[in-house]
Amino acid sequence: ISKELKSSNGHLILGGVDSVELAHKYGTPLVVYDVSEIRKQINDFRAAFDNSGFKYEISYASKAFATVAMYQVLKQEHLHTDVVSGGELFTALKAGFPANKISFHGNNKSLEELEMAVDKKIGVIIIDNFREIELLEKVLQEKDVSINVMLRLTPGISAHTHKYDQTGQVDSKFGFDVESGQADKALELVLKNKNMNLIGIHAHIGSQIFGIEGFTLLAHKMVEIASKWHKNYNFTPEILNFGGGFGISYTEDDEPIEPSVFIEKITEIVKSDSKKAGLSLPEVWIEPGRSIVGPAGYNLYTVGSRKDIPNLKSYINVDGGMGDNIRPALYQAKYEAVVSNKMDAKKTQEVHVSGKYCESGDILIDSIELPDVQPGDILAMLDTGAYGYSMASNYNRNPRPAVVFVENGQDKLVVKRESYEDLTRLDLNYL
Ligand code: LLP
Repeated sequence: ISKELKSSNGHLILGGVDSVELAHKYGTPLVVYDVSEIRKQINDFRAAFDNSGFKYEISYASKAFATVAMYQVLKQEHLHTDVVSGGELFTALKAGFPANKISFHGNNKSLEELEMAVDKKIGVIIIDNFREIELLEKVLQEKDVSINVMLRLTPGISAHTHKYDQTGQVDSKFGFDVESGQADKALELVLKNKNMNLIGIHAHIGSQIFGIEGFTLLAHKMVEIASKWHKNYNFTPEILNFGGGFGISYTEDDEPIEPSVFIEKITEIVKSDSKKAGLSLPEVWIEPGRSIVGPAGYNLYTVGSRKDIPNLKSYINVDGGMGDNIRPALYQAKYEAVVSNKMDAKKTQEVHVSGKYCESGDILIDSIELPDVQPGDILAMLDTGAYGYSMASNYNRNPRPAVVFVENGQDKLVVKRESYEDLTRLDLNYL
């Protein structure tokens, strides 16, 4: 196991709370977040920036995990957040999250979403494409108001990660292409528009990135663009937003770079390149999602049936699966797990952890060494906090799990488990 875990009397302890008791109290599958781990990651980012001397903002990428309770923690930590839908925006506002600290992303924002963002006076709209410029122009004119915007650029940089997780390469559905001059065209349009206050440029090269090269190239590129625009348009972006993508360790094979190293590299390059180009120092923004919530999350399952195929393999089946964590099926993502109630037991067998969904691809962990596992044991999958619950579905009409926050020995239910009634809440009779 690549991460340090606490246990007591053979039980896994999360945030000072016995995970086996959590499983019994709230039922399984259960999503648990150790809030202190979320706060620690935020503080690590802050510390890296504080050392850099830059003005900065950390804008949490909601898509990794967005609930009312999560936005409340972010608010308490004075973070910004980015949303990518009316639904995320609604949830943030419902949680009392300050509108002026919200950025709105997305490659196909609807008119209604743009109107909502403008009405709620959010901090910044990150414009992705030409149609959005038109739509937003219309909204702003009608309401006779102005709003801060950034331009999302496609910098032509390929991050070394899963292809579904790449977003910065030329062939991407996101943003204005830099090479072909689309970005310049977008700049001209936005500068002409007196209701749009252009405060910066944005690029996001991908997710679960381990190498420093992508960010190094991006930092040079962003200052290059800023400098070019400064010369050609007499416009200098106040903010360079580098997106998210900082990788985390899911298994022993993963060797992520500390977020602080990314921050140091980015700020170092921005500083020296800006100086060379005669630009004043911009603010640096980042949008981490996974690195803030991933390691803080744990999915608890109860072990049920088991299938031993002689001389081949053993499947142990748990009471959740691809409905609460699609990542193994979708990206062949790897995870580690422990048996919550057998932390002191020796690992004696190699098993395949499979879910309860009617699909052969519903394998949570392809191969893992575990102690002898029996029905009723509690399995804890580690580092499930990012893109687990947020991508959950009701496939096979399974209710989505409850979510519990733990911290300092306290546990608090923050999302109720869906009921069967919830599942049919929107269904209407036909006959
Ligand atoms: N900013 C933008 C514009 C993004 O598109 C994303 C992620 C982020 C920030 C946050 O990236 P992070 O720090 O979390 O890597 N469902 C996939 C990940 C999709 C990421 C999409 N964009 C997965 O489970 O691996």
